[in-house]
Amino acid sequence: MRWLICTLLLSYAFAKHEEYDGHALFSVKVQKAEHVDYFNTLDYPFDIWQYATLTRNGMVLVPKDYVQLFQNDLNSKGIEFVIETENIKNELELEDQLFAEKARSKSVRSVDRPTITWDRIYNLTEVNDYLQKVAEAYPDVVTLVNAGKSVEGRDINYLKISTSNFQDTSKPIIFIETLLHAREWVTLPASLHAIDKLVVNVTEQDLIDNYDWIILPVANPDGYEFTHAADGNRFWRKNRRTGVFPGDVCLGVDLNRNFDIDFGQHSSNLACSETYHGPSAFSEPETRAIRNILNEHDGRIELFIDIHSFGNLILYGWGTGQLPSNVFAIHAGGLRMAEAIDAVKMDYNNNYRVGNAALVLYPASGSAMDYGLAANVPLSYVYELPAYRGAGQTIFGFLVHPDFIEQAGMETWEGIKAGARFVTNVRSRY
Ligand SMILES: *[C@@H]1O[C@H](CO)[C@@H](O)[C@H](O)[C@H]1NC(C)=O
Ligand SMILES: *[C@@H]1O[C@H](CO)[C@@H](O)[C@H](O)[C@H]1NC(C)=O
Ligand SMILES: [Zn+2]
Repeated sequence: MRWLICTLLLSYAFAKHEEYDGHALFSVKVQKAEHVDYFNTLDYPFDIWQYATLTRNGMVLVPKDYVQLFQNDLNSKGIEFVIETENIKNELELEDQLFAEKARSKSVRSVDRPTITWDRIYNLTEVNDYLQKVAEAYPDVVTLVNAGKSVEGRDINYLKISTSNFQDTSKPIIFIETLLHAREWVTLPASLHAIDKLVVNVTEQDLIDNYDWIILPVANPDGYEFTHAADGNRFWRKNRRTGVFPGDVCLGVDLNRNFDIDFGQHSSNLACSETYHGPSAFSEPETRAIRNILNEHDGRIELFIDIHSFGNLILYGWGTGQLPSNVFAIHAGGLRMAEAIDAVKMDYNNNYRVGNAALVLYPASGSAMDYGLAANVPLSYVYELPAYRGAGQTIFGFLVHPDFIEQAGMETWEGIKAGARFVTNVRSRY
């Protein structure tokens, strides 16, 4: 009997998503500036999914033991809220189940060229396999590059796509990056779709004739692997840095606060925080890899898009709220991209909003987007892709509904294309 209980306890401890049992997702409607501040400065163990503004609900995941406390606090402050889901573990299990169902009905894959299917989110091994296959099948246009190793020693891989092996320096370079934040799974299809349309299924030749491309699908390989691992954590955001503070229970650095631009101004110095900036600027190999790409092509990268989720936003610097000198060109490019996406978006999603990250959302420093601007990229953006929210669906936020994967890749590609063409049309003007 004792042995049985032991086994039960063990299997309980290791069951998937168990640590999220009882975590509730709150949607909070703030109507006063002081409440915006209150909400946006919530920190560990609260996990802000979406910052609040006066026109946009905030979203926060609240651990079981804090749910009652938080409700009382909101009530006492007179802040309106809705509990979107009382136990996020149910939604995590639903996501697993939807992907398992898709896998069972999977169509046969073509074998004569590298293809991807849009029925699930590829894990790190699968992405790396795909990159390698594409590079092998199209050696004239594709080069697989290793940008270094992550904290845990995983490869950081990207593709260079070019009809002239990057030798024609009159061509602008476009740099697309996804999964700097590990849990933002819906962004991966955007990279993979771009690769497919630039290399495998080319239908718009100007995009490959007139530009060189750098596509980095998994900017945070350790964190990403951890979101897939059975003993990992689906909502992991940071990298997997350990030993910053000896004996500290929390680990990981928010890579999107670790770049050497206004370092530490609008980010956290607490290791447990989801926005922990790390011990120093560029302390992390993952951010150094991105820095090196930007520096290697100094002066040639015209468009850099760091793709995140979620929120239907196209954002630009500076993260402190100051505006860059070419802000009108940046804003015009943002509008062009937003319109292109909105033309094909799902009805249930709102139009993209375009603006300065700090003004539209909340100040943040040390981001890849800002570092892009500082590294002479004239048009540097963050996309926040929408979350799937079909009628009656509880799968949204960082969770991915399989029915949205292809759409996310396709619509985001429309935005990227519009950005690329904007570059060639207005390059002489900014
Ligand atoms: C190739 O791209 C076109 C245009 O985006 C699309 O309609 C078509 O379905 C794609 N074909 C394959 C095999 O993916
Ligand atoms: C990734 O996918 C491969 C092949 O589908 C599988 O063998 C492997 O276990 C997966 N890795 C993780 C961490 O889930
Ligand atoms: Zn993000």
